[in-house]
Amino acid sequence: MDLGPAQILDTLGAPPEPDLLGPHAQEIKALFTRPFLVLHRASELYTAGTALGLLLDLGWEARLRTGTTVDELCLDLPAQARIPLAWMLPFLAQEGLLTRQGDRFVLAGSPRLDLPGIRALVEAEAPGHATNFDLLDGVRSHIPPFFTEGRAGDGLLFDLALFPLWLAYFRNGNLGYYPNNLLTLLAFRQDLAPGSRVLELGAGAGSFARLVAQRGTEEGWLDRIVEYRFTDVAPSFLRRAQRELKTEAVGLPLVFQALDLNRPLGDQGIAPESVDTLVGINVAHVAHNLEVVLRDLRSRLKPGGRLILGECLKPVLGHPIYLEFFFSFIRSFTDVELDPRWRPVHGFLTPEAWLRALEHAGFRKLESIPPPRPLLDRHPNFNVGAISAMA
Ligand SMILES: C[S@@+](CC[C@H](N)C(=O)[O-])C[C@H]1O[C@@H](n2cnc3c(N)ncnc32)[C@H](O)[C@@H]1O
Repeated sequence: MDLGPAQILDTLGAPPEPDLLGPHAQEIKALFTRPFLVLHRASELYTAGTALGLLLDLGWEARLRTGTTVDELCLDLPAQARIPLAWMLPFLAQEGLLTRQGDRFVLAGSPRLDLPGIRALVEAEAPGHATNFDLLDGVRSHIPPFFTEGRAGDGLLFDLALFPLWLAYFRNGNLGYYPNNLLTLLAFRQDLAPGSRVLELGAGAGSFARLVAQRGTEEGWLDRIVEYRFTDVAPSFLRRAQRELKTEAVGLPLVFQALDLNRPLGDQGIAPESVDTLVGINVAHVAHNLEVVLRDLRSRLKPGGRLILGECLKPVLGHPIYLEFFFSFIRSFTDVELDPRWRPVHGFLTPEAWLRALEHAGFRKLESIPPPRPLLDRHPNFNVGAISAMA
């Protein structure tokens, strides 16, 4: 099996038909440029190549050639190895790099992993994304002690060497990340009332705040926001945002605050019914107890206020998506309380699972942008969406 530029171009996929994209079809359709399609497919295959490379780096080629189950592979490994391996083996089978026979996974033949070729193709077709691949290479080179010494994934993946690559990833110029922000913006700006107090959860590198400032200025709605509370659990992100956003999110009435969504928001100074719009992009899934966190978020919203979530979405819960590779090593992503009704698995969910959890927490008037079905059935790689929910 070859994994390189030719395979990317052969399996590029078509953009979704506009009638699947709902009322914002025009703006959403514009995301599906050829550079985006190339980058998306290339990222998927590069992740597969990286995951297989990692298993080989760890010295497991012989076991894979004989064929192994997840259980067998985990036998002499730290317990934490199970979650990423239970994700990686089916993902590699899905991408055609391993063969699946029941619950056994076999490495057959000699897959040719032309990772430099994939990088070169992206550089030609979607220039400016080398750091996305550097990040994948960085995960491969930094993560082995997670398996060999039981070291925590967070410490290995967010060290000083990799932090700049995460910052480079979470930016609007990254075609692979921008759709998260754009779809959330489409939900955010509709029904944004004058005098709005906004709180962003897990605001991180500040790419959404920058987009709000830019589009709000261009489109003339920025002055409806009277306060934009930029929050994150990580002081390093907050310090950086405080330094940079003054000049890079001009006109946004920013207030900065450390905030952990897994601690009661009232204990962190957020009064009940004090916020008009709560927004969080790829952060709500770290809720340790999703039911408790969603109820807490709802209680902070004024009546009629809205929670807007941007999330990576899965077509079905058991379908591995490449973006999960990074996160399967991160404790806050994997270590959550499960409930078959509102929280069937850790990490990314299906749109339906989100809607069920939000409804159960008392939210109403739920709206997904774009409408997730039949879009996700026909385009299972369309892995992003926004949900707006009223308190
Ligand atoms: C996927 S990133 C989102 C990046 C951000 N939206 C941006 O555009 O740059 C998730 C963010 O959530 C933050 N986060 C993780 N756990 C959190 C928690 N318990 N409470 C609040 N934020 C958290 C991380 O520090 C990170 O900045």
